Formats: sequence, C-alpha cells, structure tokens
Amino acid sequence: MAKPRSVFICQNCGASHTRWAGKCDSCGEWNTLVEDGTNGGIASGPAGLRSSRKGRAVTLTSLSGEIEEAPRIVSGIGELDRATGGGFVRGSALLIGGDPGIGKSTLLTQAAAALASKGHRIVYVSGEEAVAQIRLRAQRLGVAHTAVELAAETNVEDILATISEGKRPDLVILDSIQTLWTDMADSAPGTVTQVRASAQAMIRYAKSTGAAVVLVGHVTKEGQIAGPRVVEHMVDGVLYFEGEGGHHYRILRTVKNRFGPTDEIGVFEMSDKGLREVANPSELFLGERSTKSPGAAVFAGMEGTRPVLAEIQALVAPSPLGTPRRAVIGWDSARLSMVLAVLEAHCGVRFAQHDVYLNVAGGYRITEPAADLAVAAALVSSLTGLALPADCVYFGEVSLSGAIRPVAHAQQRLKEAEKLGFSQAVMPAAGDEQNAGGGRQTFQPATLSDLVVRIAGARARDADD
Ligand code: TYD
Ligand code: MG
Repeated sequence: MAKPRSVFICQNCGASHTRWAGKCDSCGEWNTLVEDGTNGGIASGPAGLRSSRKGRAVTLTSLSGEIEEAPRIVSGIGELDRATGGGFVRGSALLIGGDPGIGKSTLLTQAAAALASKGHRIVYVSGEEAVAQIRLRAQRLGVAHTAVELAAETNVEDILATISEGKRPDLVILDSIQTLWTDMADSAPGTVTQVRASAQAMIRYAKSTGAAVVLVGHVTKEGQIAGPRVVEHMVDGVLYFEGEGGHHYRILRTVKNRFGPTDEIGVFEMSDKGLREVANPSELFLGERSTKSPGAAVFAGMEGTRPVLAEIQALVAPSPLGTPRRAVIGWDSARLSMVLAVLEAHCGVRFAQHDVYLNVAGGYRITEPAADLAVAAALVSSLTGLALPADCVYFGEVSLSGAIRPVAHAQQRLKEAEKLGFSQAVMPAAGDEQNAGGGRQTFQPATLSDLVVRIAGARARDADD
C-alpha cells in the first residue's frame, strides 16, 4: 500500500509542493509553505482505494432544453446590476473582493434587502460579525423589516444543511470566504486549503441547485484576494470594490465575468445611510474645478460602455534634486514616463530639471491609454504656467513617434462632454463621420507638437488681445 505523503501548500498562491522549501517556486514568496496533511488536505475516500474506483456514468444532455426560471436575479440597484452584467446569475458563484471596511457587507446587505423585498429568498451567512452587529447595520440602512434570513456560521457542512431546508434560496451570501471551514479539509480556517475546499463546496452547491452564491473575499495590502488567487479561477465572476481613503465614493469594478462584459463599473457614494448610487460619475470626478489655474486638463474617458469625465492635474516644479521626482496617483507611472519622453524628444519641452507630479482628481483611477493627450496637455500647461481653456476636453493616445492615434468611442466621449457643458475638444483626427454635427469646436492635432504649439500659442494670442 502506498505510504500517505505530505503535501506542502503555498499560502500565497496555492501551489502544492512535495517537499518543504523556504521559497515557493511558483510565486517566489518566502516562508509561505505549510504542511497540509495528505492529498492536499482534502480527504477523498479511504487511502489506497482511490485509484480502484470506477467512474459513474452521468447522463449527457443537449444544448437546447427547458430553462424554467429567469436566468438572472435583478436587484434593482442599478449600479450593482450594471457591474454584474444585468443581475446575479442563477447557479453561478460570484466573488466580491475589497479592502476591509470598504463597504462590502454594506453593499450586500442593501442588495439582499432589495431582493428580499421583491419576494426572493435570500440567505445571508456572516462568519465575521455576530447577528446583533448585522442587525445594527440593517437598522442603520433602514432595511431591518425585510425578509432576509440571517445566520452567523462558519462551518460549510452546517451552512449547506441549513440552506438545504425548505425552499431553495435564490441567493446565498457568504461573508467572508476567509472565515469558512469544512470538515473535508484538515487544516486551520483561513489557510488556502480551507478557503479552496470551502469555496469548492459552495460552488458545487450553486451549480447543482441553481441558487446564486456570492462569496466575499478580503484583499491583502498588495491588492490580491488574501491567499487564494485560486478562488478567482473557480468562480464565474469576480468584482472588486475599491475606493481611495478619504474619499466617499466607491467603485465596483468587474474583473471577470463568464456571463457578461468585464469592463463595467458601478459607482457608489458612502453616506451615513449606506451606499448611494451615483448615476452620473462625471459630475463626481470633476467636482469643483478652479478653471483659472494651469496644470489641469479634463479627460473624456470610457469605463466599459459608459463615458466618464475626469480631471487630470499636473504640477511641474523646478527640482533641487539630481534625479527629479516623478510621482503619479491614479494613472500608470510607466505611461507618464513615456509621455514625458515623447514631449522631450519630439516637442522640445524639457522636464529634466523639474519634478513632475500627476494626480487624477477625486481619487479616480484611469487605465486607458486614451488619457495620454490629456496628461500631455496638463504637463505642458503646468510647465508653461498657461491655463487650458476651461470648457475643453482631451482624449487620444500618443505613440512613441509623437503621433496622435485614434481611440474608440469618440462619439460617446464627445456627447458626454457636451452634456456637461464642454464646447471644445482636442482629439485625434479620424474619419469625417466622427466629427459631423454638433456645435462644438474640435482641434485635431496630427502630432503632439501641434498641441504644444497651440497651448504655448495661447500666450501670444492673449498678448494680442
Ligand atoms: P462594511 O460594509 O462593514 O465594510 P466591509 O464589509 O467591506 O469590511 O463597511 C464599513 C464602513 O462603512 C465603516 O467604516 C462604516 C461605513 N458605513 C457608513 O459610512 N455608512 C453606513 O451606512 C454603513 C452601514 C457603514
Ligand atoms: Mg464585512
């Protein structure tokens, strides 16, 4: 009979190793390997008999067939439904990750209450808070009267036994996955093995019964869902709930969705009565702008299918240091270096003696390369001390040669800008049909130096007046 062998599981990435080592080969983390019983800690029948089991024949079915219920459960909270791609999908598992205290439990309590008041059976299982604490939150949110069924429990078998009683729940919320543990795994709660086995059991439940399951996951300082990256691969959808410290608004960002688009965001504002939907994020990110000061440019961006306007602020100041500072908040620092290099190489603008600070107002984070042009405009404006026109938006990608490249959804960006009172746009030159109509003024530079000349030319024009 084969000797049972120990397995060592990395607590960071979940990779299994046959022997202990100081460093995990898979993810490179140190001191993360923990001995984990036999077979990865997940018991699967008597040892030695495992290989002799013959497979059970399952019934194969066709693609077409009856689907009895609406496949999605719509919460009615618009921003949440937008991020999930139109509601929670029955029979699927969704992971919602985020920093502690960001508002995951608040969001899910509100969603649970909204769904329960529509007649769905909702079970909320908390492994972190006592029933009294959850009730207190529900009172604060004004949803204490709704028929959400509540439990404070952490054992997966007990949870499954509980929710299997009576009518099948439409949605089961597990807050959080890190607190769950199952009898099937013999390691301590919170370890990768436990989290993975618990998630697996709950996902199996979702698939076999058709209930939607939402798992809450905490995120580590490095921005990963603590320990089990593996859970991200197991679930059907992953949403991140993010927000900057000191700002009240929160963004629910889709990173994975097997049943919908992955580039959607839902925007909320945390108030004293819970999360409030923000239907027009542009107004939030633009905030109160001082239109006279140099260094600010408004970027007409896109988040999924939705246009979002955000203000980009640059400060270029003479540097006392040999190697000047470059600091970025809300954008990619590598792209900032690239835009600076293009300005230096192709436009004759020198930043070598200057510190450069770049900030996206409101704590918003931009991932689009289309922000290049707005960043360049803000940088040149700050360096020259010339304020940009207050009613102008910027978008376009800058290539290494200094050419301005077209970006997608120009029409939608312009429409959103117009709606918010911006009458000018600096954008890539594109097909004529893109610019037809509208009373707006557009400037379409072919290269970045055209834009620099235009910004610097403003001084000359002012002097003429
Ligand atoms: P919570 O949902 O408990 O966060 P998570 O589950 O992600 O850890 O939210 C906690 C924070 O939200 C806490 O700092 C208080 C704040 N909050 C409000 O500002 N208003 C409210 O109505 C509620 C319920 C919470
Ligand atoms: Mg919580």
